[in-house]
Amino acid sequence: METLVSKDVEMAATFLERGEVIAIPTETVYGLAANGLSLEAVKKIFLLKNRPFSDPLILHVGGMEAVEALGISLPLWARQLIHRFWPGPLTLLLPKSSLIPEIVTAGLPRVAVRAPNHPLTQALLQRLPFPLAAPSANPFGAISPTTAEHVYRYFAGKIPFILEGGECEAGIESTIIGEENGRLLIYRPGVVSKEEIEKVIGERVFTKSFSPKPEVPGQFPRHYAPRKPLLYGWQSPPLEPHASVVLFRPPSSLPSHRYVHFLSYEDNVEEAASRLYATLHNCEQEPTEFILVQTIPLDGIGEALNDRLRRAATPSLFTIGHSNHRWEDFMDLLRRYEIAAIIDIRKHPYSPKFPHFSQSFLQKDLYENGIMYEWQPNLSNLVQKIERISKGYERIALLCAEGEPNRCHRFRLSDELTQAGYTIFHILPEKRLQLHRAPISLGLEERI
Ligand code: TXA
Ligand code: MG
Repeated sequence: METLVSKDVEMAATFLERGEVIAIPTETVYGLAANGLSLEAVKKIFLLKNRPFSDPLILHVGGMEAVEALGISLPLWARQLIHRFWPGPLTLLLPKSSLIPEIVTAGLPRVAVRAPNHPLTQALLQRLPFPLAAPSANPFGAISPTTAEHVYRYFAGKIPFILEGGECEAGIESTIIGEENGRLLIYRPGVVSKEEIEKVIGERVFTKSFSPKPEVPGQFPRHYAPRKPLLYGWQSPPLEPHASVVLFRPPSSLPSHRYVHFLSYEDNVEEAASRLYATLHNCEQEPTEFILVQTIPLDGIGEALNDRLRRAATPSLFTIGHSNHRWEDFMDLLRRYEIAAIIDIRKHPYSPKFPHFSQSFLQKDLYENGIMYEWQPNLSNLVQKIERISKGYERIALLCAEGEPNRCHRFRLSDELTQAGYTIFHILPEKRLQLHRAPISLGLEERI
């Protein structure tokens, strides 16, 4: 199939009227759109994205009248938010009407609706007699597209048409909000911040928090993710030779690393949002093995950026050996890699030659440096032990006696960890990370 890329709204409408799936620009990210009232057309979206049918889609409309025309009634809070934010990056969860096929809402009682603010897509929606069901135009779990070129890379030959609308202005997805037990809840933080919503509603709004813990071992909810390991949450990411490094803002002296990216030059979270996905797409294309991303400030849209990066992050563990290290050098490594906790997996937690690596010293000295320490020579249930210690994305290192990675921890052990979804990095004494083992699902086995 040939994939046309064009600004022609009429042509876009023709494809949609025929029940085809096309890509459309919005102010947040590009969407993969089809007639939202046609079961057959919507089904194609799921198949193209490889998305489970249990994950519902947003209906895109021209504005409030189009929502009412679908038989959806609007509570006061919805009217207030529509009045202030539409057309714009705010999605409302509202009671579904019978006109909307079950496939769109995955059988749920509510439907997600939003009016996107992009001139071409607005013109298209005004022209069409139906709403457009549209998820972000990426394969399920991958990085969302913010240019027509990103969409083309994913879906060339698979869809007939991409409506070319330039770079997406906001750069991350819409905020999703709905009511539960009389309270407004944000289900996905996005471009519109909680504070902006609270100002309109005049009441507190809550956020459904995202849990990084897998429900089933090996099933981490990785999403918005590049096809190489991404480690998020660095105060100051080390400039690793084999990594793409993403900094929130340029540091005072510019690093000479080849694959460094800056999200904001003006110290501004909106600017960072508009560059985030494009930067991750670039990192994915670079000849590097993994990606390190600096922590983003939490104000305003920063909350949404943190949410996306946490979901994009790869659960990871570090291994470190103490063999023949000077204590100061060992501490330097822990600081450089921002290690928050050490699990000592040595059978004998002492070292005759290097008394500093004995359990009692480690416990005390690490604690004084703000690093948690635990001796766990019994390797059964190691995954549960790690998950108990890690509340989120703190970096945990397993301490072994040997510095060399293959001797540092037994392969049986790394199998268990990779099966549980962890990617393992070894901290080499010469201040370098070595990507040691990754879960098969990351598709890196052959490269490492
Ligand atoms: O900015 C955006 O919202 C973009 C552009 C294309 O409009 N769209 C987008 O769609 O991000 P998608 O499918 O990638 O993400 C929509 C999210 C999903 O996490 C889905 O589970 C949730 O919205 N969602 C959709 N309908 C829902 C419903 N009825 N109840 C609960 N969650 C729903
Ligand atoms: Mg998406």
